[in-house]
Amino acid sequence: MSEPLVLGIESSCDETGVGIVRGTTVLAHAVASSVEEHVRFGGVVPEVASRAHLEAMVPTLEQAYAQAGLDVSEVDAIAVTCGPGLTGALLVGVAAAKALALAHDKPLYGVNHLAAHVAVDQLEHGRFGERVVALLVSGGHTELLLVDDIATDITLLGATIDDAAGEAFDKVARLLGLPYPGGPQIDRVAREGDPTAVDFPRGLTTGRDLERYRWDFSFSGLKSAVARHVQHEQRMGREVSVPDIAASFQDSVCDVLSKKAIAACVAHDVPRLVLGGGVAANQRLRHYILERAEAAGVEVRIPPPSLCTDNGAMVAALGAELVARGVAPSSLDLPVDSGMPVTQIVAA
Ligand code: KG4
Ligand code: ZN
Repeated sequence: MSEPLVLGIESSCDETGVGIVRGTTVLAHAVASSVEEHVRFGGVVPEVASRAHLEAMVPTLEQAYAQAGLDVSEVDAIAVTCGPGLTGALLVGVAAAKALALAHDKPLYGVNHLAAHVAVDQLEHGRFGERVVALLVSGGHTELLLVDDIATDITLLGATIDDAAGEAFDKVARLLGLPYPGGPQIDRVAREGDPTAVDFPRGLTTGRDLERYRWDFSFSGLKSAVARHVQHEQRMGREVSVPDIAASFQDSVCDVLSKKAIAACVAHDVPRLVLGGGVAANQRLRHYILERAEAAGVEVRIPPPSLCTDNGAMVAALGAELVARGVAPSSLDLPVDSGMPVTQIVAA
């Protein structure tokens, strides 16, 4: 049988994404973002995101059909993110996917957003073939996963116990007077700063914390430490060096993320690491990961930035994998699940 042709729809946060793939080949990759509408609030406003999805859904579908030179009547299946994410936002994508599946009599797969973030790498670097460790870092999630089989078997090793990595970047950027989304801003100004200027804490990396939370992360203490440092400098009448603070903060986040990710590969004897999520674009994180991976003999797979951030091609990529494996489709009355666990790759 030829590789399955699958349409994927993503609407879990602020990107409306529609992708079409054949197996591991991308035929269409259309994304509309509502990020501009959230800038003045300094973070994603769920109601604003839902409305933006509603407005962008049909034009984004049409853009994807035009890119691929085909439409939904020709695909083998439709995949859609049904969780985790913002409930109202998820509902728009799921409603669209159900309507298309019903109207065109296509199997429907409600898939897990996190698993899709991992699956997308196969569009760039080919099938995993073997077990991989995945580090997902974005505005909404920070997870370390052991992926035995992208279609059937994912184990959650650890996750953030408070803020997501990208969320920490966004909050610290705001504190430093940088615009939203803060990750790319901090990445940019940090290049002019000294990463050793301020010795910020590295959460859950020593003693009892490390024992208890070996594969977990915590960034809220770091965020508070940055706030206290800025206040202290101001009280002392000293000028605050935004580049130095940005570089030192970024160094703490990336040091911890890369150390735990590589340690997980070594501990589980899996010399392959996949990176995903918006924060995977960070220069310092890439530097640390590549350096430490090389020292540990770990191969690193990082999809290009446009596939790391939320998109529909990643959903289609996971859908194609499910179809190829003969996994049963979801029910047409599948619900959205804002807290869908990563162990559940496809909804019943
Ligand atoms: O994956 P994504 O587009 O959306 C979700 O949150 O699901 O990730 C967006 C997050 C934001 O928090 C943004 O600040 C962060 O990724 N980000 C970065 C960089 N580019 C985006 N964080 C650090 N460095 C970057 N270069
Ligand atoms: Zn995401």
